[in-house]
Amino acid sequence: MDTQTTRSVPNAPHPAIRMDLDAPDIPHIAPESLPQHVAIVMDGNGRWANQQGLHRTQGHEAGERALMETVAGAVELGIPELSLYAFSTENWRRSPAEVRFLMGFSRQTIHDDSATLNAWGVRVRWVGRAQKLWRSVLGELRAAEQLTQHNQRMTLNLCVNYGGRAEIVDAMRAIASQVQSGRLNPSRISEATVARYLYAPHMHDVDLMIRTSGERRTSNFLMWESAYAELAFSDVMWPDFTRQDLWGLCTEYIHRHRRFGGAQDAPRV
Ligand code: IPE
Ligand code: IPE
Ligand code: MG
Repeated sequence: MDTQTTRSVPNAPHPAIRMDLDAPDIPHIAPESLPQHVAIVMDGNGRWANQQGLHRTQGHEAGERALMETVAGAVELGIPELSLYAFSTENWRRSPAEVRFLMGFSRQTIHDDSATLNAWGVRVRWVGRAQKLWRSVLGELRAAEQLTQHNQRMTLNLCVNYGGRAEIVDAMRAIASQVQSGRLNPSRISEATVARYLYAPHMHDVDLMIRTSGERRTSNFLMWESAYAELAFSDVMWPDFTRQDLWGLCTEYIHRHRRFGGAQDAPRV
């Protein structure tokens, strides 16, 4: 079976989550009007759990369903690139028990979900820093990258042990060593040079950055890449986020006026 042309795929670990390109409720947005890259700060798992008398870790478990639901919705809408913030370089500050849970749970879900993502035509890419990241988690991410490398329907950047400042620091180190060895002339360093040394040089600039749970900050996510991103905040806690929420925010995005520093003079008469 050619998975790239499969339009509706039932999935083993999430029998309830289907990706159906022909679903009648998908909003019709012209491909050129859609955000080419949506980045999501998936926030609120812990509060969602605590609000109903559950432990934070149960919130993370519930968040996995929202993740697959959101990926399905993004594919259905036709978004070419989606970045999900799964674990930040600052999240190591959490209790050792929560960090251990998050690492083990990430390893398990990447393992369990990559076949489904592959069936949906999604290409997985890990974006982050290797240092400190559990080797077993990195191994699952690399396996998912390899399994899905030829898929073209959507690129999914899984940002695990990612920090915007760490990414810029790592790029600076690489650039400095190029300069030191005489391969790069400092006066020729441009924005394009810096972009080439980021974790995912081919990443499209973020058009729409979404954060759930009512918090209004970007928490070090894709700093360079989202310099001109439109920001959208949802009060929904991540485990309750649905594809309809995503579609709603993307529909709102198409009415934004993006100027990128430019201006148009049009006095009303
Ligand atoms: C987001 O939910 C998941 C991660 C950061 C790993 P949180 O764990 O931050 O949940 P809250 O913000 O404490 O509710
Ligand atoms: C950002 O959420 C990181 C992820 C979603 C992975 P946090 O919950 O860690 O951010 P802060 O601490 O509220 O800024
Ligand atoms: Mg949080």
